[in-house]
Amino acid sequence: MRVVSGIQPTGNLHLGNYLGAIRNWVRMQDELSEGSECLFFLADMHAISMPHDPAELRRGTIEMAAALIACGIDPTRSILFNQAQVPQHAELQWLLTGTARMGWLNRMTQWKDKAGKNREGASVALFAYPVLQAADVLLYQATHVPVGEDQKQHLELARDIAQKFNNDFASEEKPVFTLPDPFIPPAAARIMSLRDGSAKMSKSDPSEMSRINLIDDADTIMKKVKKAKTDPDPLPDNVEALEGRPEALNLVTIYCALTESAPEAVLAEQAGKGFGAFKPLLGEALVETLAPISSRFRALLDDREAIDAALARGAALARERAAPTLSATYEALGLVRG
Ligand code: TYM
Repeated sequence: MRVVSGIQPTGNLHLGNYLGAIRNWVRMQDELSEGSECLFFLADMHAISMPHDPAELRRGTIEMAAALIACGIDPTRSILFNQAQVPQHAELQWLLTGTARMGWLNRMTQWKDKAGKNREGASVALFAYPVLQAADVLLYQATHVPVGEDQKQHLELARDIAQKFNNDFASEEKPVFTLPDPFIPPAAARIMSLRDGSAKMSKSDPSEMSRINLIDDADTIMKKVKKAKTDPDPLPDNVEALEGRPEALNLVTIYCALTESAPEAVLAEQAGKGFGAFKPLLGEALVETLAPISSRFRALLDDREAIDAALARGAALARERAAPTLSATYEALGLVRG
């Protein structure tokens, strides 16, 4: 089993990232069997597909590394690095652009959302972004890719690219690429904004009140939960009755994910309560989960050398792991390298 996943080092790590992806990274790392391996990386090369400030990207990369370690990623057991330290990602991306089809990329919802009406003005990197993402996982023969629901389409594309490449350039007995499986947590695959139950919680939402950051202090968390949009009805006694109440459903989903309980059990206990009573419970569960992460994060930021060393070690290992697949790709394509 080889587990590979990445996160863009832009903005703060938020609750959606944590419950949708990072918590599973940590679990997979902790439950890994002999001979298996986890590679987790900061997708800094992806971050240049949108307008960005170089100084902020530099700072964000170090901060995100600290945040992942604070969440439980252990850089001595997992391979933790940033993409820019492992040039094979960009190299493989180019080799795969010969296989990826324009039509496939045109159908990507993230491309459509982020480019909006201004496709002519969007960067080439934004369009080609999913090919780099495919390279990220195919480079390491990933078998499992833990992500939130919003990344599913990109991983299906990675599978399509791998399959077409294997068909076109390799034999059935000796494929160049492994087809990766997305691993999406059923309960917290899509955490929504606290201000709008129909939009996902995201780093790019201009409203700070829309998301809980992993480094928010207890007062901020309580305030954000108190101000979270809800409806005037009390909690029902069954999950079906939350249909059509996206904000209420989101808060219940977050509570269940934090306390690792089934929605049926939570609703059986809380039925009839209004949000005035439920929100403090949710706030407390959030503080309990996030306070230790945030204090570890702050301590780590004071030890910049340790972070740099962890990333350098991870990058050296990643480059080693990447080498055989990259060579096999050049070879399969008939590219002469001496
Ligand atoms: P990114 O940086 O937007 O998000 C990192 C991870 O967090 C998950 N996530 C969520 N899950 C549930 N609810 C939410 N509201 C929510 N918001 C974010 C994402 O699904 C993701 O798992 N393109 C990727 C980074 C990437 C990558 C890769 C991932 C680059 N290469 C290769 C996997 C494999 C991205 O922008 O994720």
